Amino acid sequence: LHVVHIASEMAPLAKVGGLADVVVSLAKAHQAAGTLAEIILPKYDCIRYADVAELRQLVQLEVPWGGSTIKTVVWAGIAEGLPVYFVEPYSRERFFWRGRFYGEVDDAERFLFFARAALEFLVWEEETQGKQPDALHIHDWQSAAVAPLLKEQYRARGLTRPGVVLTIHNIAFQGWLTPNYLDLMGLPRAGAYTPERLLDDTRPGFAAAQPDINLLKGGIVYADAVTTVSPTYAREVFAPEFGMGLQGVLGRHAGKFRGILNGIDPDMWDPATDAALPAHYTAADTAGKAVCKAALLAELGLPAKPNTPLIAVVSRLTEQKGLPLILHGLRVAQQAGAQFCVLGSAPESAVQQGFERWAAELAGGTAGRLVLRYDEALAHRIYAGADAILIPSFFEPCGLTQLIALRYGTIPVCRQTGGLADTVRDVAHSGAPEHERNGFTFAGKSEADVETVLRRAIDAYRDAGEWWHGQLVPRAMRQDWSWSRSAQDYLQLYRHLKQG
Ligand code: ADP
Ligand code: GLC
Repeated sequence: LHVVHIASEMAPLAKVGGLADVVVSLAKAHQAAGTLAEIILPKYDCIRYADVAELRQLVQLEVPWGGSTIKTVVWAGIAEGLPVYFVEPYSRERFFWRGRFYGEVDDAERFLFFARAALEFLVWEEETQGKQPDALHIHDWQSAAVAPLLKEQYRARGLTRPGVVLTIHNIAFQGWLTPNYLDLMGLPRAGAYTPERLLDDTRPGFAAAQPDINLLKGGIVYADAVTTVSPTYAREVFAPEFGMGLQGVLGRHAGKFRGILNGIDPDMWDPATDAALPAHYTAADTAGKAVCKAALLAELGLPAKPNTPLIAVVSRLTEQKGLPLILHGLRVAQQAGAQFCVLGSAPESAVQQGFERWAAELAGGTAGRLVLRYDEALAHRIYAGADAILIPSFFEPCGLTQLIALRYGTIPVCRQTGGLADTVRDVAHSGAPEHERNGFTFAGKSEADVETVLRRAIDAYRDAGEWWHGQLVPRAMRQDWSWSRSAQDYLQLYRHLKQG
């Protein structure tokens, strides 16, 4: 079996969030099972290419764009043990030479171009090497255009073999463009520009006034199979609150849509071997976790206090993640005498500035620290050194932070939504068997709800002798959140498309 992921992120080279982790860890799980799993990524300028082995220019293509073409070099290399192809266009203000991954005014155009260039590359591979994948696995709106392009255009260019799986990691971002981009894509307006296909009729009052194309919608309509990253979220998205306009489209295509729970890479996230940690530990011997906590407190400039839990947040600081509840929760932790640390980065500058002001207020004190940047190594040290992790997300397609935290014996305190609801079982209120109970959960959205759950967690840490005299941490660590099950589900899907 041969699968090619076409994606805008891959960990740790080009990572903004969990999408990056999933692309790499899923591909690695498939590679270990004997599948040829490759990745096509934009050649961003903000990647450490020293980490890519055998990097070389493979081919120069002329990618059609509007009436003309854009010279595009495709590089090949090996990253995380996986074959990776990097797409580098040499004009249009060099789409991927912007010093960051997202947040440019022309994002939709940049990734639309990426999708098309990826397909041009696959045509080249077919023509020169007779190589064609069985499945194209595309992720979120950034590569969703691959599906309509393949079906409307590139099948006829010889890519007859691959089926397309679209995975929705975050439905909040959909990729909107004005209809003239259909011409740039080379798609016929007659076929593609209809409400059944790429035309966005999902935003009330919008379609009539200013018709738009919606790339994620196009992906859903044209893909052979659509997945999202947890079973609960796959049910939630049919409701308008979660579907964000696409609930109707998903409803019409429900037959090819399902939730498959994400896994994490057990090698990348392993407290027994993690090179970022000052000490190592296992479920059988958790002593190293206390060493990691002491070192983390020292690194953050916080005093070690007996019988005091350290509550962490590792998150993009966005609305999705329950910002007001994060803020309130941390204040509650402070009042209750717990300590806290936040590692987060806010794409919105007003939010970032608000957190920076609070960070300045906290400086020198003993309650907590806010570290407002993206820092992979510090994230590892926090997962190991913290006692609990707070995740009050308003919606969460899967969530990897709770899975990583569990592997490091750090107990999730989270809202019951999406993948959080599928993976975290309350120690007290869950009907699940005891060995599955691994955290503290709450359902509501109010400050009172997060306050109750946090006080419950802090009290449990204190009164039950650091989580029931050391029982809860090893229990959490023993749970298996690797790709062991879900990688098989994806393989079945690829095989099914191959036969179909
Ligand atoms: P999302 O993809 O919505 O951001 P996930 O929980 O799926 O949420 O994945 C988040 C990933 O990003 C995890 O690997 C987490 O450790 C990482 N992460 C989030 N914020 C930061 C940060 N500021 N520094 C380092 N890693 C971060
Ligand atoms: C998205 C979601 C997150 C999920 C991740 C990987 O960014 O917000 O819940 O875990 O993708 O699928």
